[in-house]
Amino acid sequence: MDSLSCPKHVAIILDGNGRWAQRRKLPRIAGHRAGVRALRKNFKTIRHSGIHCLSLFGFSTENWKRSAAEVQGLMRIFSNAAQRNVREILDARARFHWIGSADGLSEILVQRLRKLEEKTKQESDFHLILALNYGGRDEVVRAARKMAENTHPADLSQWTWENFSQYLDTRDIPDVDLVIRTSGEQRLSNFMLMQMAYAEIFFTPTLWPDFTGETFQQAMDFYASRDRRCGMIATSAGT
Ligand code: IPE
Ligand code: MG
Repeated sequence: MDSLSCPKHVAIILDGNGRWAQRRKLPRIAGHRAGVRALRKNFKTIRHSGIHCLSLFGFSTENWKRSAAEVQGLMRIFSNAAQRNVREILDARARFHWIGSADGLSEILVQRLRKLEEKTKQESDFHLILALNYGGRDEVVRAARKMAENTHPADLSQWTWENFSQYLDTRDIPDVDLVIRTSGEQRLSNFMLMQMAYAEIFFTPTLWPDFTGETFQQAMDFYASRDRRCGMIATSAGT
């Protein structure tokens, strides 16, 4: 793929773990474990596909509404993954970023996420972004608060998108080019709303635990077939 038809930043809304488990008469948490296996299985393919950033929607600010048992199980999965996959991430020469809010997360989980960021910060070829306790609206509110603290509130000339975007969780990461959502749902669910302003969106009925390199390739082919204009006039007038 040439650089124009290859997205720089792919964001995946991994959905369908619960249904995958339900179909097998397994508890939902078994679906989440299968989701982690799918991620580990597909990571190499995605890492070497030519993209530079991969964002994953792990847990949203709305996911706290799930049962206490499911939330606890998910937190345990994240905590273990953050501790155990350091070697794999380092071997892949990936820089890890956590985006989201620390509010409500355990101290130990936050520590592990920060440690993983610290340990991989020398890498620059590939960025692995995990959204955990993340919501697009929450991110905008946190960014606006931080900007108000650091900016003279009356100096409206400073309130530009360029300045504001530096306060988002993704300040050093380019905008999302391609969004993939699994499981047939066709929504963005408050994921990286600002960063997806011009993204192409690929929906697949595949449940996340069944995701393969082939599904990823379908999404990449879909992206390559699009005429990306980002608001400019290209082959025909439009937006
Ligand atoms: C996505 O799978 C995983 C997370 C949000 C952590 P779901 O748990 O939403 O799976 P379904 O939608 O119930 O099938
Ligand atoms: Mg779901």
